[in-house]
Amino acid sequence: MTSQRSFLAANWKLNPVRMGEAVDLARAIAKTARACAERVEVALFPPFPWLPSVARALDATGIDLGAQDCYWERTGAFTGEVSAAMLSDLCEWVIVGHSERRQHFCETDETVNRKAAAALAAGIKVVLCVGENAEQLDAGRTEAVVEEQLRAALRGLDPKLVASSLVVAYEPVWAIGTGRNAEPAHAGRTMGLVRTVVTRESGAESVRVLYGGSVKADNVTSYVELADCDGCLVGGASLNAEEFSAMIEAVAEAGE
Ligand code: PGA
Repeated sequence: MTSQRSFLAANWKLNPVRMGEAVDLARAIAKTARACAERVEVALFPPFPWLPSVARALDATGIDLGAQDCYWERTGAFTGEVSAAMLSDLCEWVIVGHSERRQHFCETDETVNRKAAAALAAGIKVVLCVGENAEQLDAGRTEAVVEEQLRAALRGLDPKLVASSLVVAYEPVWAIGTGRNAEPAHAGRTMGLVRTVVTRESGAESVRVLYGGSVKADNVTSYVELADCDGCLVGGASLNAEEFSAMIEAVAEAGE
């Protein structure tokens, strides 16, 4: 761990379907997160429509809120899009370049770069996701793929903003939602590479790096204890208040 507090980011994806459930989940997580706030920084990433009500539920809890995507244009004729500028009134964070968006919604390295730039310009912090798929892993191309994704995503970004407001989540695609979490050694090696590439390519003095992919309460400490890991991006396990609260507590204990 390189930063003072570990960061746990909860990516709720297309869940929950009901607003009341989203608010209840946020409230339940907030209880544990407040108790562990000295050691663990927590941010919740609900679907767009639940942002205002989850924001109210998190009011004065010290827990951050984020969106799962954004569009780079501020405003205009772009039906269905939500701009980074609009989000800046609602939340502190946005996820950019998640592999599900790259896979199912034609996200490219170029659009990831435009979204990251727009978010930083709008004053929103970015969780930038990178990671190899199973085929690339088997071909021994993890490092080349991650390096290329980072280089493209960081193009032209202000090094000061990268250092202060951008976090990279290394998420191997084969580990997401599969229960097949990466060996900590593999994750640690790749997170070390992420750190090196980001500081070299962007000129940022430092950067926070997370691991994501089938993180649960019983394996989270094996990541946050790694030298190059500043926390985790959690999908499925963050939808269960008990499981995610147990993760927050485990990470707080690991930091003692
Ligand atoms: P998972 O998802 O924890 O369900 O594997 C992680 C992610 O997609 O960010």
